[in-house]
Amino acid sequence: MTRRPDGIRGTTITGTGMYVPERVLTNRDLEKLVETSDEWIVERTGIRERRIAAANEASSDLALIASQRALQMAGIEADEIDQIVLATTTPDRILPSCGCTLQQKLGATKAAAYDMFAACTGFVYGIGLARGLIGAGVSDTVLVVGVETLSRIVDYTDRNTCVLFGDGAGAAVLRACDAGVGVHAVDMHSDGELGEVLEVPAGISLNPASDRTVAAREHFIRMQGKKLFPFAVRSMEDSTRRCAEAAGWSADAIDLFIPHQANLRIIEGVRERLGLPEEKVYVNIDRYGNTSSASIPIALDECVRSGRLKPGDHLAMAAFGGGATWGATSMTWTLAAQRAADSGARRHEKINTKSREAVS
Ligand code: ACO
Repeated sequence: MTRRPDGIRGTTITGTGMYVPERVLTNRDLEKLVETSDEWIVERTGIRERRIAAANEASSDLALIASQRALQMAGIEADEIDQIVLATTTPDRILPSCGCTLQQKLGATKAAAYDMFAACTGFVYGIGLARGLIGAGVSDTVLVVGVETLSRIVDYTDRNTCVLFGDGAGAAVLRACDAGVGVHAVDMHSDGELGEVLEVPAGISLNPASDRTVAAREHFIRMQGKKLFPFAVRSMEDSTRRCAEAAGWSADAIDLFIPHQANLRIIEGVRERLGLPEEKVYVNIDRYGNTSSASIPIALDECVRSGRLKPGDHLAMAAFGGGATWGATSMTWTLAAQRAADSGARRHEKINTKSREAVS
């Protein structure tokens, strides 16, 4: 650990990784569970399929593989990590934290580890925290993870929510860099007034688990999707503009925009308001649905590994989620592409185009 009380260091991402479980749950599969259709889901959300964790896979297991991949890309060992910030809504258990379980599985023997509960904005909040820790010289190496096993808190009798969510994990290693590149700004907000719009009503101190709460299905996600929709578009646009401005860019100087993948119509709304062309906005919601705090780091890793990002590129990422929480970050990318755009990247492009056609 180093202390630099006299100045602020730059912070950048030096490695990314992701992992999604093998099992695919398609829209056709959901047609057998609730009154819905592939056509409705694709047209209203852009989602075609999502991944579901196996019975023996907990959030820390997904996080472990994503983190190992990020460490490998960064070229560092687990015992070099100073802090693990694990963003999740679905930790393995409330006690111990999922961050500590990951710390043990990873062998990050020198790391402080803890959970961050900021729903879908968790990864952006994590970058904000890591930037503060590294910038102030409190830590040199921070692992930020977004992981969810939302299938464990989704009510598969509720068509309003069960079509939306999926499981997965993404991770990023953050370290110090030269000033002027890496993370320029992180914008973070919350508004508890919107708390009941997206909630799991029971389970902890307000409404402890009981036979009654189980019978009333109060341990599952409840959402008023319509109320969230306009808030999501507005908040992600505003936050992204603030971060672009802080970096000294106009919105159209953004080379790649990675929005939280909650609904393709929300993504398109933000894209149009920011005046960005489709090719600058990354979309993978068709394959994974909404993986909450994992959605941005999964998308980021896909962009890095498919050559969508090169050093010098202007990257913006934005999210909104339960709480309510929202935020964004702007970065000048510093990590060399892992491999040139290949058939994998072209496949993503094709799927993106297909999804966009479905909702237009
Ligand atoms: N299949 C078929 N019909 C459905 C389904 C479904 N899966 N779900 C809802 N419907 C019906 C509704 O019952 C309603 O029927 P009605 O008119 O007879 O009452 C009709 O479809 C239209 O419902 P709306 O709510 O108007 O549909 P909308 O176009 O708003 O789409 C959606 C709903 C997809 C939930 C949208 O509002 C949305 O994406 N909101 C944002 C949600 C979100 O992003 N949540 C995640 C937050 S992030 C986090 O922290 C986890």
